[in-house]
Amino acid sequence: MRTPLIAGNWKMNTDTASARLLASTIARRADEAGDSELLVCPSSVYLSLVRDTIGSAAVGLGAQNVYHEANGAFTGEISTAMLCDLGVQYVILGHSERRHILGETDADVNRKTLAALGAGLRPIVCVGELLSEREAGKTAEVIHSQFSGALAGVSAEQIVSTVIAYEPVWAIGTGKVATPEQAEEVHRDLRKLLTECYNAGIADKVRILYGGSVKPDNAKQLMALPNVDGALIGGASLKADDFLAIAAASAAVGQV
Ligand code: 13P
Repeated sequence: MRTPLIAGNWKMNTDTASARLLASTIARRADEAGDSELLVCPSSVYLSLVRDTIGSAAVGLGAQNVYHEANGAFTGEISTAMLCDLGVQYVILGHSERRHILGETDADVNRKTLAALGAGLRPIVCVGELLSEREAGKTAEVIHSQFSGALAGVSAEQIVSTVIAYEPVWAIGTGKVATPEQAEEVHRDLRKLLTECYNAGIADKVRILYGGSVKPDNAKQLMALPNVDGALIGGASLKADDFLAIAAASAAVGQV
């Protein structure tokens, strides 16, 4: 059985006061998530603050990006060792905003994924198609090529600590959520790719999150899908009530 992961991607939001308040509220109410695993991914400048605010509560700490080189003359970048030093456990990689606004390629995402895994960080590798690609009937093709590009060279041992997030680009921040059929179709496809590249036993252990306009009122339907193992949440993760309600909906599904 895969433990659902409910991850909040805070993106480039919050300031010191709001990051502290959000983290402390989630930490205090973490038991509302039941058996689901909670994760918050603040901006890197607030990682230490959020870590200290969470304290010993059952809330994980994730970063939103990392650079693949170990150290040196890479102005503005952050290394895997720096994230580990701050107590970070997860790192989001290949988010569509990094791919489409900052120009990251599958090769970049692959270098980062291998560096993260090599350092003992758990990558959350994002894949997802544009609306134009979906409308052109290219969703499966795009997902396949992002999957094989981003995960090239990831061993069987490493893939089980890797998380995959399906985030259709047209559903991010738009309020347009994928239908359960659309989400399950891609998640099933990703599970099949994992089975083909590794084996069924390993594929069964890898968590595949859905992301894109997940809200408390649509969470239960999405989290109940057989191949959806949690959520990567943007906007709703900035409101503790909404984030925890999504986690509770996911936990409730697990108990059925
Ligand atoms: P929204 O939940 O705001 O659509 O963002 C999704 C996302 O990009 C999470 O990484």
